[in-house]
Amino acid sequence: MTHADDELVNAARAGRANAWAPFLTFAVGAALRHRDGRIVTGCNVENATYGLTICAERVAVFKAISEGMRPGEFTAVAVVADTDEPTPPCGACRQILWEFCGDIPVVLATPTEVKIVLSMRELLPRPFDGRFLSHG
Ligand code: THU
Repeated sequence: MTHADDELVNAARAGRANAWAPFLTFAVGAALRHRDGRIVTGCNVENATYGLTICAERVAVFKAISEGMRPGEFTAVAVVADTDEPTPPCGACRQILWEFCGDIPVVLATPTEVKIVLSMRELLPRPFDGRFLSHG
């Protein structure tokens, strides 16, 4: 783990502190690193329909895009939840992370320790993305 990874994980922990999870009471934090060094955090935001809940990872990506960062400019993401087995991004978040970030490292951590670093390629083999839309 580099100092930069530690910084990213701590940012995800700080993001997790803002989780709005009154229904499932499962708080998640995420932090996305831009290639210029900026870090954008996210947390899960639930609502009473459940289905409109958005995960911490997608909040981080969409915040970053809304602030003017562009797809392909991200170098790593960290995800923090309080589970023994490290909590990986859900399927929807894997798709969004792949499309906006490509094959970046995904650091999975808890409030107290880093558990594992995986690549997006490992998490989402044979991804669908915009390349396919230019054929057919
Ligand atoms: N959640 C995330 O924020 N990220 C994930 O990758 C997995 C799930 C949130 C959504 C919901 O608020 C709660 O965790 C339980 O699914």
